[in-house]
Amino acid sequence: MDIMHKMTGREVFDRLPGIKVLGVGASPRKNGNSDVLLKYILKGINEDGTAANMIQLRDLKFDPCIGCEKCRKDKICTGLTDAMTLTYPLVYQSRGLALVSPTHNYNITAWMKAFIDRLYCFYDFENTRPRAWSSRLADQGRKAVLAAVAEQEDEFDMGFTLEAMRRPLQSAGYEIVGVLPVYGIFDRGGVKKNEDVLLAAGKLGTELSRALQS
Ligand SMILES: Cc1cc2nc3c(=O)[nH]c(=O)nc-3n(C[C@H](O)[C@H](O)[C@H](O)COP(=O)(O)O)c2cc1C
Repeated sequence: MDIMHKMTGREVFDRLPGIKVLGVGASPRKNGNSDVLLKYILKGINEDGTAANMIQLRDLKFDPCIGCEKCRKDKICTGLTDAMTLTYPLVYQSRGLALVSPTHNYNITAWMKAFIDRLYCFYDFENTRPRAWSSRLADQGRKAVLAAVAEQEDEFDMGFTLEAMRRPLQSAGYEIVGVLPVYGIFDRGGVKKNEDVLLAAGKLGTELSRALQS
């Protein structure tokens, strides 16, 4: 293929190496509730026959977006060279994403926010003001599931956690096929005692796998 040819979304999709999902964990707490949820989501994905990888953002050394706008020209982040440089190919080559964040102050963790902001380099902008934009991840059948876990018992206290993942991913071109809010769990790994939640996490993974295969 002529490398100057801008591939259509369908062409990109067809060239992706098999259906794969990237799981992204955003808790600073190893073996905490988000880790357990992500493990069960990935189990559901794998058991349905879809391959899945996982990264824990706390293990990656990366900075938040510095707004240098170099990606406007370079089409990938060149303003920072860090663990995200190695993570971009994983994101691009995975048709699905499974994001899990604990609630920190009514919102996603700083790690998840930094990860999402670093996906800014997948946008194309026009020179209009405000700039018209489109995502180079859009129209490729990309899909995602989201999960959040909070100590308090109700939606108010989970705050913006799910929405803070949902809206940017939708803008980036992902269809959100399922979400799982988990309330009332504080202790590290306490979610393991809640079989209904573990089942729901597995089901969420299966839903993503099925949606990607359809
Ligand atoms: C800095 C910080 C802020 C938190 N803010 C909230 C909050 O706003 N609402 C809430 O319900 N729980 C809050 N929590 C509790 C966590 O969401 C809860 O303990 C969760 O189970 C942690 O998940 P993890 O084990 O995956 O880290 C907070 C915890 C920390 C450490």
